[in-house]
Amino acid sequence: MSATEQSGSQTAKIEKPSPAKGKLGIMVVGLGAVATTMIAGVEAVRRGLAKPIGSLTQMGTIRLGKRTDNKSPLVKDFAPLADLNDIIFTGWDIFEDNVYESAAHAKVLEKETLQQLKPYLETIKPLPAVFDQYYVKRLHGTHVKKGKNKKDLAEQVRTDIQNFRKTVDRVVMIWCGSTEIFLEPTAVHQSIAAFEKGLESDDPGIAPSQIYAYAALTEGVPFANGAPNLTVDCPAMIELSKKNGAPICGKDFKTGQTFMKTVLAPAFKARLLGVSGWYSTNILGNRDGEVLDDPESFKTKEESKLGSLEYIFQPELYPDLYKNIFHKVRINYYPPRGDNKEGWDNIDIFGWLGYPMQIKVDFLCRDSILAAPIALDLVLFLDLAQRTPSLKNIGIQEWLSFYLKSPQTREGLYPEHDLFIQSMKLKNTLRHIMGADLITHLGLEYYD
Ligand SMILES: NC(=O)c1ccc[n+]([C@@H]2O[C@H](COP(=O)([O-])OP(=O)(O)OC[C@H]3O[C@@H](n4cnc5c(N)ncnc54)[C@H](O)[C@@H]3O)[C@@H](O)[C@H]2O)c1
Repeated sequence: MSATEQSGSQTAKIEKPSPAKGKLGIMVVGLGAVATTMIAGVEAVRRGLAKPIGSLTQMGTIRLGKRTDNKSPLVKDFAPLADLNDIIFTGWDIFEDNVYESAAHAKVLEKETLQQLKPYLETIKPLPAVFDQYYVKRLHGTHVKKGKNKKDLAEQVRTDIQNFRKTVDRVVMIWCGSTEIFLEPTAVHQSIAAFEKGLESDDPGIAPSQIYAYAALTEGVPFANGAPNLTVDCPAMIELSKKNGAPICGKDFKTGQTFMKTVLAPAFKARLLGVSGWYSTNILGNRDGEVLDDPESFKTKEESKLGSLEYIFQPELYPDLYKNIFHKVRINYYPPRGDNKEGWDNIDIFGWLGYPMQIKVDFLCRDSILAAPIALDLVLFLDLAQRTPSLKNIGIQEWLSFYLKSPQTREGLYPEHDLFIQSMKLKNTLRHIMGADLITHLGLEYYD
């Protein structure tokens, strides 16, 4: 094959992932709206009550070979992912509510659905959390661990992991907790040694999410961050992840408005249409909305939401089109809507000879319905990464950027935000680890 739509006929022999044998334990930090919607959803799917819509691992297919080969297996039949029936959930929260009570409080799923799942959901009771109100101002936790310092708290989380591990074969942890205040990396985040000292001296730079992450990675447990917090996005955590073969990814589930942005912006750029302004506002009435009403937590979210356009548009390469974009993001806490967020975008674009046009997007979405399948896919793929020799020790799993608003990358490497580049990257990573040819979409061979 000289010119082919497939490429990279793999020269080096790839060691494929080991099979997903036994039970996969998922430890969820924060059993709120997203987490309970994921857990209830997995149980509903297991019982055949509903379909796992929105989940690439459950419903997605992957093309192999040429278009004329007609070979597109399900992702889950191609790569050895854990079966939903082999998943066991546990988690932590600062409130004592079991998963049924918390899901009922979140009001994402209908009462009848929850009623059917009640006996199962009631069995999942949160472990006491590591929490400090300094990092999430709007919450008052009652179900929290006490310890003499942050090191002691990390040890307690390690004990929780060790106890859970006795009941399952593999463990993955995911942060579905509230958004913490904006923190920038400091000296304490630069190495494992500095971080461990900081745990002992109660360094204020170490947030609760990092105590969980440290405990997970020390125990060799992969960690996904669904919120925009710093958490595993610092050298100490990356070092720990590589050292212990515990893959990481983050940050912030890409669900509503940013999902749309990373679809629309690449389209404008592909057609060389300019953008002068992008105004995004949201109304949201769940607990997440309440937490984000605090300026310090909002700052963390704002940073995460603002980043994508800058990277997609590359104003340094296209100054005439994107140098002067006015980009604004607002989130307004509005209780009547609950989890049903409304996100408006006004986009001022311009075309041929600079003539202006406008696009309005009004996305009436359901936040946790969009986030739940993402959370599920992330844990299943992190578990796969840990069983894959070429991925296990590389730390950040950039191929999972597809799911994230503010994707973590190696230092000095800009993140890919374009959803379609991310999707291709994810699928090519799966092809690569399974020893299949990559797909480049060149396709000249069909016209030979
Ligand atoms: N739903 C979405 O579309 C979406 C998208 C991107 C990111 N997120 C992020 O995901 C996270 C969860 O969202 P949600 O809607 O489920 O929020 P939520 O408020 O319903 O749930 C968060 C839960 O975390 C708990 N919590 C807070 N701090 C904790 C700690 N230190 N330890 C243990 N538990 C703790 C809270 O008590 C709460 O039950 C938020 O940070 C949110 O910003 C959500």
